[in-house]
Amino acid sequence: MQRLIPTLRQDQVDEALISVIHSLQITAKEISFRVGQGDLAGVLGSTLSENIQGETQKKLDILSNQLIKDILLECGHVRAVASEEEEGIVLGHENGEYLIAFDPLDGSSNIDINSMVGTIFSILPVPENNSGTADMFLQPGRNQVAAGYILYGPSIMMALTTGKGVKIFTLDQTVGEFLLTKRDLAIAPDTSEFAINMSNYRHWQEGMQLYVDDLLAGTSGQRSKNFNMRWVAAMVADVHRVLIRGGIFLYPWDARSIDKPYKLRLMYEGNPMAMLVEQAGGLAHSGDMAILDIQPTDIHQRVGIILGARNEVNACLGYLKASQ
Ligand code: AHG
Ligand code: MN
Ligand code: MN
Ligand code: MN
Repeated sequence: MQRLIPTLRQDQVDEALISVIHSLQITAKEISFRVGQGDLAGVLGSTLSENIQGETQKKLDILSNQLIKDILLECGHVRAVASEEEEGIVLGHENGEYLIAFDPLDGSSNIDINSMVGTIFSILPVPENNSGTADMFLQPGRNQVAAGYILYGPSIMMALTTGKGVKIFTLDQTVGEFLLTKRDLAIAPDTSEFAINMSNYRHWQEGMQLYVDDLLAGTSGQRSKNFNMRWVAAMVADVHRVLIRGGIFLYPWDARSIDKPYKLRLMYEGNPMAMLVEQAGGLAHSGDMAILDIQPTDIHQRVGIILGARNEVNACLGYLKASQ
C-alpha cells in the first residue's frame, strides 16, 4: 500500500503543501496516542476554562490545540493558523504560503465516554493582502487548496482532498505511516439514512420539521421509503459515514439562542467538510447557499449545514423553500 507522501507526489501536489500535510500527519500521530491513552495519561475531563465559543474546554481540546499549533508553526510553509480553541490567529513564518484553520478536537463531548473524536483541517492560500491579520483567512471555502480530517476511531484514518477527489489513509501503527486505503470516494446521489440531533426538533424552522416528519413517515409518507437515523455527535464521524456509505448530515438553523442560531463553525468545520463532500460528488449547503461560496466575515462565524447525497440535499432544500 502506498504511503501518504509518495501518493501526494504522484498527484503533483506542490512540495510546500506536502510539507504542511506531512506536519498534519505528525500531529495526527501525537494526538491519536493521547486519545488512545485516555485516563492512563490523565487527559480526560474538562478544565475550568472557556473558549471563545463559550464552551467549557476539555483537557484534550487544549492539549490537541497546543500540539497542532507547535508542529504547524515549525513548518516554514505556514503563514498563520486559526483554531476553534484560539480567539485570534497565531502567526507563523512571514514567507509561509499557506493558512491553516483547524478544529483540534471535534466531538470533544465524546472524549469522556470513549466515543469517536477527530481533528478537522482547512488549508487556504495566503491572499494578495498578506496583512498578517485574521482578514487573510476571510476567503470563501472555494479557495481551499486542501481539506481533510483525522478520525480517531477503532482505526485511525485521515480523509484528504487536494482538489483531485477524496482519499482515505489508514495509520499503520506498526510503522507509524498513513497508508492509502481508499481513493476516489463517491457519495451515492440518493440515500435512506439521515443524521440530525432530533432533540432540537421544536426549535427548527417549519420547513425542516416537515422535511424530517416525512423522513419518519416511512413508506406510508410523502417519501414512500423507510429511513434509518444515526447521530454520533462528532461531525467527523457522521461525515465519515456519509463519505463511506452515503447519507445526509444536518445541523440546521434553530431558535434555541437568538444570537447563535447555528452551532457549527464555517472556517474549520463547514468549509473543509463541504470541500470533501463536493469532491465526492455530494452537495454541501447552508440552507441559503452552497457553503463553499459563503464570503466569511469572522474566523469563528457559524453556519447551517445540510450535506451529503445530492438528491437528498435538494429534497431537503425543497421543503425549506416551500415553507418560506
Ligand atoms: P466540537 O467538539 O469541536 O466543539 O464540535 C462538536 C460539534 C460537532 O462535532 C457535532 O456534530 C456537534 O457539535 C454535535 O452537537 P450536539 O452536541 O448539539 O449534538
Ligand atoms: Mn468545541
Ligand atoms: Mn467541531
Ligand atoms: Mn473542537
